[in-house]
Amino acid sequence: MVITKPSVPVIDAITSRRSVRGYLPDPVPAGTLEQVFEIAQQAPSNCNTQPWKVYVASGEVKDRLRDQFLERLDQGVAGQPDFSYVSTFEGEYRQRQVDCAVALYNEMGIARNDKPGRLRAVRRNFELFDAPHIAFLGMDRNFGATISLDVGIYAQTLMLTMHAFGISSCAMGSMRTYPDLVREAFGLDDSTGILLGISFGYEDPDVDANRTRTVREPLANSVVFRG
Ligand SMILES: Cc1cc2nc3c(=O)[nH]c(=O)nc-3n(C[C@H](O)[C@H](O)[C@H](O)COP(=O)(O)O)c2cc1C
Repeated sequence: MVITKPSVPVIDAITSRRSVRGYLPDPVPAGTLEQVFEIAQQAPSNCNTQPWKVYVASGEVKDRLRDQFLERLDQGVAGQPDFSYVSTFEGEYRQRQVDCAVALYNEMGIARNDKPGRLRAVRRNFELFDAPHIAFLGMDRNFGATISLDVGIYAQTLMLTMHAFGISSCAMGSMRTYPDLVREAFGLDDSTGILLGISFGYEDPDVDANRTRTVREPLANSVVFRG
């Protein structure tokens, strides 16, 4: 296929991308979607195994999945993620987790002790932030942490490519909660595990949550140079 690449320097894309949690209903044109995913296929992986399995839900398929997610959430059905994960962090990681939540809740007008407000914010995930599309990223269930690195690298490659095309996104670990519904929607057998979702589409600038900005640690807290 002929790819019409937008010209966005990679550093600009990295530094200006941010998570978007409120979208306009307009779908991304099919040709653009194909180009974006074609480019993201260039992500590197261990021995070029390309372990990512990507399932993109749009239109009625996406609406049905969203409704099923919400039904389960509202009935208090416990999640059954395919892979073990950490949800509550400790120490410095906990502090960053709290700072991130506070930044979002502040923009959404949710006070710290506003439990219904916080539940509403969680529910927004399962409403898919009103995105017209959601991509589910998975891999063979038998692959462990090392191979999931490849899927993580793919995820960022995909989000940066989208960003270069003017498409906003949000990585969503919350989309690990009910993987059986994703498998059902795409006719997958049990061998594929779902690692995360990425909601995407065109940003709705009027959504309060989209004013959220996060910061990063000073370099010395993450990177060590020697010699
Ligand atoms: C693997 C992964 C899972 C995430 N899961 C969620 C999620 O379920 N819900 C959400 O609102 N944001 C989620 N995020 C977005 C992070 O909160 C966000 O990337 C972080 O706060 C940094 O903000 P920025 O993306 O705007 O730079 C996730 C990000 C990553 C990388």
